Amino acid sequence: MSNSSKPSLLIARAIFPEVIARLQNNFTLELNQEDCIFSPTELAQRLQGKFGMLCTSSARIDATLLAACPELRIVSSIAVGYDNIDLHACQHFGVMATNAPDVLSETTADYAWALLMAAARRVTEAEHFLRAGQWQKWSYDFFLGAEIHGTCLGILGMGRIGQAIARRASGFGMRVIYHNRQRLTPEQEAAAHGASYVEKERLLQEADHLMLALPYSPEVHHIIGAPELALMKPSATLCNIARGGIVDDTALIAALREGRLAAAGLDVFENEPRLNPDFLQLKNVVLSPHIASATRQTRLAMVNTAANNLIAAARGERPPQLLVV
Ligand code: DGY
Repeated sequence: MSNSSKPSLLIARAIFPEVIARLQNNFTLELNQEDCIFSPTELAQRLQGKFGMLCTSSARIDATLLAACPELRIVSSIAVGYDNIDLHACQHFGVMATNAPDVLSETTADYAWALLMAAARRVTEAEHFLRAGQWQKWSYDFFLGAEIHGTCLGILGMGRIGQAIARRASGFGMRVIYHNRQRLTPEQEAAAHGASYVEKERLLQEADHLMLALPYSPEVHHIIGAPELALMKPSATLCNIARGGIVDDTALIAALREGRLAAAGLDVFENEPRLNPDFLQLKNVVLSPHIASATRQTRLAMVNTAANNLIAAARGERPPQLLVV
C-alpha cells in the first residue's frame, strides 16, 4: 500500500471520468487514460504497492503476475467473462477476484440479434455492394437471405445472456431450443419463450440459427469445430457473442467458404484482436470488434460494478460480485 492514507489502485485501462471521480474519494489512483496495453512485465511493475486493480478481460491475471505483486488484494474486472483470471492462483495468493455480471445481459442479447439479422439477411454484404457503386438495378433474386421469423433458434449456453436472447425470439414467432450444462427449471424455460432443452447434437441439427452464449473455459475450447459444423444445416447462421476459442475459427472459415454453412455473425475471435485474416475474404460473415455490450449506459454500469467491488473491498466488506477470495 502507498504512504497515503487511501489505498492505491491501478486503473489498468481508460475508463469513464465520472467513475474516476467516484474512485478518487476512496483511493489514490494510477490512471491509464491513454489506454496503453501493458505487457505482463509492465503490469507487474505498475502493480507494485497497489491494493487493487481495475481491469478488462484483456488483462491476463495468472500466478506469475500475482507472485510478483505481494501487496495486491483485489482484481476487479469490468467484464462478465473471467477466463483471463486464474481463480486458483487468486485463491492461492489470497487475492480477491470480481467480475461484472447482470448489467450487460440485455444489451448483449440485443447485439446478438443485430448480428443474427445482419448475417442471415446479408445486411453488411449488401451495404458493401452499394457503397462500392455496384448497384445498377433491382432484381428478384438480389441478396436473398434466410428467413428469421417462424424458424428454429438454437442457443448453446443458457445463462443470463442466453435467456435474454431467447426472450427476444417471441417477437419473431420462433421455436427456441437450447443446450446447457444444466437444464433450466420449468419456470425459467417458460420465461425464456418456452425454450426446450435438447442434447447438443440435436441442437446443431435442428437450429436454423445458432447463437453461442456460453462462458469460455478450457473444457469448451473448440466446442464448435469441424464435426459440429458438419451437423448444422447448410442454410444455418452461426452467431458468437461469447468468446473466441469456443469456435474453431479455421474450421468455421472452411465451412463458410465451401457453403456448408450459410452465414456467420461474429463479435469474438481466436487471438483477437489479431483475427484470422481469411475471415476478411468472406462475404457471408458479419464481423465486429467485441462490442456486444457497447452502449454508454451498459459500459458505465459495468465500470461502476467494478468500482463498487473495489470500494467494498477497501471498506473490508465482501465485494458484491466476488468470484473467489
Ligand atoms: C464481457 O463482459 O465478458 C465482455 O465480453 C467484454 O469483455
